[in-house]
Amino acid sequence: MKPLIFAFLMLMTVPVLAGPFADANVAAGQRLVEKNCISCHASSYGGDGSAIYTREYRKVKTSKGLLAQVRNCNTMLGLKWFEDEELNVAAYLNNTYYKFSE
Ligand code: HEC
Repeated sequence: MKPLIFAFLMLMTVPVLAGPFADANVAAGQRLVEKNCISCHASSYGGDGSAIYTREYRKVKTSKGLLAQVRNCNTMLGLKWFEDEELNVAAYLNNTYYKFSE
């Protein structure tokens, strides 16, 4: 196989291997979550607030559901995040807690 074609194929497959939010910026998502989302979850679930994502009967079951929940909280809180910010936050939560692979 010609090297160029091989490189192109690698580029095409990497996002698929990296999961549902492959193009998002996880570090940026983490900053947004730390700033806007933790205190309320922590006051109802204790600790650092992460138990809401790991509890046995958590609501979010798919990566699509995760993005939808991030959108709901964004709207509910009036944060006016853009689409890419919602994706960054969903990517951070997925990488850290949910681990959906597609
Ligand atoms: C004013 C309080 C409050 C704030 C602020 C808040 N949340 Fe929530 N969040 C909740 C409550 C309450 C639930 C649980 C809802 C339920 O169990 O029906 C929840 C649930 C969730 C879940 C689903 C957890 C599961 O069960 O899998 C996600 C994801 C989530 N929030 C993300 C966010 C994000 C992202 C932000 C920041 C933009 C945020 N939340 C800010 C109150 C809040």
